[in-house]
Amino acid sequence: MDNARYKELSIKEFTKAADVYDSGHAGIYEMCKDDYPPILDELNKADFENLLDVGCGTGPMIELLASEFPSRHYTGLDLTPRMIEVASAKDIENACFVVGDAEDLPFDDASFDVIICANSFHHYPNPQAFFNEVARVLRPDGKLVLRDYTAPAPILWLMNHTEMPLANLVGHGDVRAYTTGEVRAFCTASGLVPVTLEAQKKFRLHLVARKPASSEGERLQFGDIQETALVTLAIRASETARSNPRIRDEKASEIIDSLGVDISKYDPFLSHEGVVARTIMFADALRALIERYPNAVCINLGCGFDDKFTQVDNGRIEWFDVDLPDQIAVRRKVFEDRPRCTMLEGDALEGAWTEQLPKDRPVIVTMEGVLEYFTKEQTATCLHMLCDSFEHGWLVAEMNSMFMVRHSRQHDAIKNTNATFKWGTDSGEEFVELEPRLQLISEESYNVEMRKHTLRGKLFATTFGKNVNNRLAVFAW
Ligand SMILES: C[S@@+](CC[C@H](N)C(=O)[O-])C[C@H]1O[C@@H](n2cnc3c(N)ncnc32)[C@H](O)[C@@H]1O
Repeated sequence: MDNARYKELSIKEFTKAADVYDSGHAGIYEMCKDDYPPILDELNKADFENLLDVGCGTGPMIELLASEFPSRHYTGLDLTPRMIEVASAKDIENACFVVGDAEDLPFDDASFDVIICANSFHHYPNPQAFFNEVARVLRPDGKLVLRDYTAPAPILWLMNHTEMPLANLVGHGDVRAYTTGEVRAFCTASGLVPVTLEAQKKFRLHLVARKPASSEGERLQFGDIQETALVTLAIRASETARSNPRIRDEKASEIIDSLGVDISKYDPFLSHEGVVARTIMFADALRALIERYPNAVCINLGCGFDDKFTQVDNGRIEWFDVDLPDQIAVRRKVFEDRPRCTMLEGDALEGAWTEQLPKDRPVIVTMEGVLEYFTKEQTATCLHMLCDSFEHGWLVAEMNSMFMVRHSRQHDAIKNTNATFKWGTDSGEEFVELEPRLQLISEESYNVEMRKHTLRGKLFATTFGKNVNNRLAVFAW
């Protein structure tokens, strides 16, 4: 069926639906109402004056918004003239409604602060055109909130090959629903940055995407990322894309997608297994501490692009992602501050930034993939800084092995970068020698986790002793 025919069917379907849409007995369309609260939640977090609702129907969402946020301006657009007639007849203050096509928006560039689109996207024969238009008419730093259908690929295949064609047969204009991966690809191809992209229950897709502050300059470039960070990102993204991922890191997938680079050289087997193992072990160690101290202040020191907060949040901790100013500037292109999760510029060797943090609660510091690039002297400076800045605390740290330092240039991923490991230890007690206020609580080789997953991982862990691999150590002071 060609694109124009889908649109004819949509107009036919929704011309009929328009007169019953708000009756409370609108059949299948009643479930559209379930999407209004999550959209409202997103808008509560957004700063907007001008909002566009694409595929607005009879304007129920604009009606709701106009009562919640009365002083803003609203525009509703819909392909079906009858929907627009019904919406306009409501005479909503500060709102106007226009007939138009989501794939060819009749608005100037950068006209809206926020665009919402609910239950309409699966009617668009050219979804990329819609995303491109949204990226064009959003102002820099503006947001798209999209709700629609999604499902795991096999279920989606069934929906797209049975339910949608059947709907077409009875005169409905449904075209296709997409996986979150496909939606991410549309989004990044248009220049928008996905901020939240989730498959939620009841087959709901929830996307919040942001237009970069100045269209090209703000986009993440390959050179923005230190290569060592790229290794971890590449591995987390490739694991997330597997059918049974052991860890999920949607943010890593999004960053890697948006860069559009070949990451295969950063994802060799042993490093892959090592990063998966350490991600699991760090999350477990942090969760155990957070269970003991549910109101803790947590610091991800040298956070890079890591998103541990999402993995371990208990709804109460206060989290700070800390890194050098240039890294935080780049991180801000793909992350936003969230409630209880704040990005902060700070140096692991100098403690001025800690003055901004609450000091009345237990402190848990995590440092993953950081200390291996510090010399022994820098490591000592960092440990002194932590103990001087916080009276008591916990440190969950990656301990680089001496073996890794000696074989830096043979390391299967690091050899492909310009980085080298600077210093390592055979035991966490060497940290205690550097900073006697520390007490070593536990220490475990990544081998312990690696051997659980694959035969090759098991062989590696068994053949080479625990000191060949890096370790996770927990210290208290
Ligand atoms: C199920 S209704 C959703 C209405 C409203 N957004 C809601 O959630 O209640 C889908 C709407 O998308 C509109 N639509 C379909 N294709 C469109 C297109 N290409 N451009 C704009 N609107 C379109 C239909 O006319 C219809 O009003």
